[in-house]
Amino acid sequence: AKKNITVIGSINMDLVTKTEQVPMMGETLLGEAFYTIPGGKGANQAVAAARLGAEVSMIGCVGDDPFGRELLAHLGRESIHTDAIKVVAEVSTGIASITLSGGDNSIIVVPGANYHVTPEFVAGHEELIAASDIILLQLEIPMESVEMASSIAKKYNVKVILNPAPFQPIPDRLLENADYFTPNEHEQKLLLSHDWSEEKRESFLRKCIVTQGEKGVSIFSGTQIDIPGYKVKAIDTTGAGDTFNGALAYSLSEGMGLSEACRFANAAAALSVTKLGAQGGMPTKFEVNEFLRKAGENK
Ligand code: RIB
Ligand code: NA
Repeated sequence: AKKNITVIGSINMDLVTKTEQVPMMGETLLGEAFYTIPGGKGANQAVAAARLGAEVSMIGCVGDDPFGRELLAHLGRESIHTDAIKVVAEVSTGIASITLSGGDNSIIVVPGANYHVTPEFVAGHEELIAASDIILLQLEIPMESVEMASSIAKKYNVKVILNPAPFQPIPDRLLENADYFTPNEHEQKLLLSHDWSEEKRESFLRKCIVTQGEKGVSIFSGTQIDIPGYKVKAIDTTGAGDTFNGALAYSLSEGMGLSEACRFANAAAALSVTKLGAQGGMPTKFEVNEFLRKAGENK
């Protein structure tokens, strides 16, 4: 049977400006192109897992506006269960203003409706969380809501992956409840600069899978294991981490070991950056396996 993955997180419309040069404060420049594309770390991770073949539900909020309606319809088209997505009045749907320059990006996120994902709202979906094989969390909804989701999951022995992005200090309860942390190198550094006790630091590290773009990932459970990534021509790196997380949830739920799951997720992330948009380029299971097969032949 298909495995159930529930994502509790953000849904954004990405407003992407493509430009050769990035303006300095006070400066005006002419850009190249503008796109509105579905995004948000939560929704991106949900789409990544669904394309690979998982049964995915999402708990989140959008505004009662055109972006919100478009994003809801879009998630439905991606075969994601949207019953636990609430439309909230008088607040805008979350947006991310993204500047894309030379394949790399900088982002401003305005959470809007995503901050209406309250702990009470999350607790209202206890049954959905309880029926999941894995839940996926990020930090674009209130921290207390992320904590709530992790506590409910623990109560029912459901595995928890926390992608600690964008960076925020992680409260103790969440530190305990999460089974895996997936920071990038930068977030990892910031997290380790906490004045944690030796014990907390250790327990955090043991659960860490640190993503490093095309260099791959490092696993810190026991001794450090490096799983190399794949070099591809990057068109848009937005959402590469989200693809990794969605694919990791999928592959772990399918029973792959951690190293194999990371290798699979690295390949999915590599494929995702070859197309425009956070969700553009997110592969199917078949595409990942083909990619891995070819990468094996080219060795
Ligand atoms: O991780 C990429 C995502 O971060 C974008 O889709 C944007 O919405 C921001 O939330
Ligand atoms: Na992409």
